[in-house]
Amino acid sequence: MAKQDIPGRRPTTQPVPAEAAKTYAWPSSPTLIGTSIMRLDGPDKVTGRAKYTFDIARPGMIYGKLIRSPHAHARIVSINLAPARQAPGVKAVFEWKSAGSEVMYQGDVVAAIAAETESQVNDAARLVRVEYEILPHLVNETQGLKPDAPLVFQDGNTSSSSLQETGDLDAGFKAAAHIVEAEYSTHVITHVCLESHGAVCEWDGDNLTAWVSTQGVHATRQQIARNLKIPETNVRVICDHMGGGFGSKVAADAPIVAAARLAKEAGRPVKLMLDRKEEHLDAGNRPSAFARVRAGVSVDGMLTAFEATTWGTGGAGQAANFPLPYIYQFPNRRREHTNVYINAGLQRPMRAPGHPQGCFVTEVLMDELADRANMDPLELRLKNLPPTAPDAMWREYYQMGAERFGWDRRHPTGDPTPGPIKTGMGISANTWGGGGRAGNAHIDILSDGSVTVKCGTQDLGTGTRTIVPLIAAETLGLPLAAITAEIGDSALPFAGVSGGSTATAGVGPAVRIAAGLARDALFARVAPTLGVDPEALVTNNSRIQSKDTPSTGMSWKDACKLLGAEPISVDGQWEPGLSSVNTSGVQFAEVTVDIDTGIVKVKRILAIQDCGLVLDKLTTESQVYGGVIGSLNFALFENRLLDQRTGQMVNPNMESYLLGSMADIPEIDVVVVDQPERGIIGVGEPPTVPTASAIANAVRNATGATIRSLPLHPDRVLAALQQTKTGGATV
Ligand code: MOS
Repeated sequence: MAKQDIPGRRPTTQPVPAEAAKTYAWPSSPTLIGTSIMRLDGPDKVTGRAKYTFDIARPGMIYGKLIRSPHAHARIVSINLAPARQAPGVKAVFEWKSAGSEVMYQGDVVAAIAAETESQVNDAARLVRVEYEILPHLVNETQGLKPDAPLVFQDGNTSSSSLQETGDLDAGFKAAAHIVEAEYSTHVITHVCLESHGAVCEWDGDNLTAWVSTQGVHATRQQIARNLKIPETNVRVICDHMGGGFGSKVAADAPIVAAARLAKEAGRPVKLMLDRKEEHLDAGNRPSAFARVRAGVSVDGMLTAFEATTWGTGGAGQAANFPLPYIYQFPNRRREHTNVYINAGLQRPMRAPGHPQGCFVTEVLMDELADRANMDPLELRLKNLPPTAPDAMWREYYQMGAERFGWDRRHPTGDPTPGPIKTGMGISANTWGGGGRAGNAHIDILSDGSVTVKCGTQDLGTGTRTIVPLIAAETLGLPLAAITAEIGDSALPFAGVSGGSTATAGVGPAVRIAAGLARDALFARVAPTLGVDPEALVTNNSRIQSKDTPSTGMSWKDACKLLGAEPISVDGQWEPGLSSVNTSGVQFAEVTVDIDTGIVKVKRILAIQDCGLVLDKLTTESQVYGGVIGSLNFALFENRLLDQRTGQMVNPNMESYLLGSMADIPEIDVVVVDQPERGIIGVGEPPTVPTASAIANAVRNATGATIRSLPLHPDRVLAALQQTKTGGATV
């Protein structure tokens, strides 16, 4: 979708460029940027040639494993490693926690062990004798909030964050013609990275090479070095390909540090990768979110007041906050939030942390308010969007989406069609910051014409491996195949963690500037031979030529021959001006609900999303597909279930922890809005924010049953339908 296709598009804010960013502004008529380019590592991945951390095998490599607490909360009375140490094949074993300390959740790490083979390490791990004194545990938010609950966490089972208050709440409620009072919630899900967490660690004297499935090779190097108290220069972290992180792989956590320590102790390379159960228990999760809300809308559909008490859990000692209200403007509001701690694995950032939760609460509330005010939900949203965000395009996208999706065919709440299958539509919006972070790139142009771009970023599966050479090729006027890109190694120039949707906007400007500087250095070397000013030269289609007299020039290859024994070798750094921040998007969902079985099927999704300058249209669209599918899984399938009595997760596998299959994925219509003048922003996270809310609103529109809590498993849908019938659901 070209930008002129957006009706009523406002000019967006321009980033203020620094010096090099001015010189190397994005081209106004690019040849590669903005086109659809297949990811360069695609063939390697589908043929199995791509080596993930899981695939790394080193000479003499042995296998590591973590011994974990089977209890939700216990004190370690004693640990006896001796029987395990004597078991066949065992090369290293050590305590991670010591006697007297507490384990705070099922899966909390107690010890680490390594042995020659995987079966030997599994057998030996069972011989580690840990004596526990079982302590009381908390498994859900309700228990954690009880004033008479046992004190499980030293500083209290809860912590309150500061009160947020704006405007005059009483006046706001006085101005309301309709008030909705209800409780909303979203559940805990885990990241379910296809490739589990872990590392292969190999020492050479005091130097460690660690192949790690990580979102940040440089950050991981730093964290490993700090943890082992060794110089950072002694650590090299490599991640060529990785099978997803979603926020859960931004820290050098226990498996990585333990692998390094086991390898040191054993004097052998160690592979330690988590199994699926460990992934669910102790590799991060999205915190739960609960909101008891009271909100008002005026007779003419203006939001007047919003009051909320919110809480959630991030597990054994981590916060669980989320933005609320989300996007829409309530002039008078008050919100008080409490973090509740329970004996479960710790939360980690997960895909737009907090946004899917805050979006769900707000967007479902919006539909309830719209019904009360007897308004179309789209109209209510359009009336209450924030007035002062020049880059926020929700209004335009909602209007464009309504037409494209056929919103005018939406019936009022409750499909009147006879029979059990009811159809409905719902909408929802998103926002996310994205933007660039400091990062570096290096470019070598050699006398044989070859070009290498080096950048210590990493590709999480998002397309970084493709956009790095893409930008270099565009800048140098070369085909993509002429560029060799090296990424995924902390020995390469520093780049930040791929998190917060910042990787492309951090790396892209650095590569652009490095390539621009390299190109100008080549012009300076070629200009005397051509008898023109370097400033008069341009690159075009593997040629260097005079801007005004294209026949004065030479091929890229001939130009590079002039380099002789002194190749071009330059660095570029991220500067402001080639990237900016803040994205907006909207999604429309159409679902069917079988009111006899409670089964929800998503028929189609429309996702309209901006992200600044689109580099590779295909990988950008792929990001939106991925975001939508992730959010659909959040809405309909995934759920971490803890047993009340034991605090054990009852579904720590891929069989009963549900995910959609191909048959559950609807038609997804992706509209990526290109905003080249804003520079790169990033698109990883925003499209995963609104799908779940749009689906929940569509279920409500189909059935009249208000879905205030996820996931939409059939039993809950049936319960909501039952409540509606008995008049219990509408407060
Ligand atoms: Mo993301 S949750 O910033 O990796």
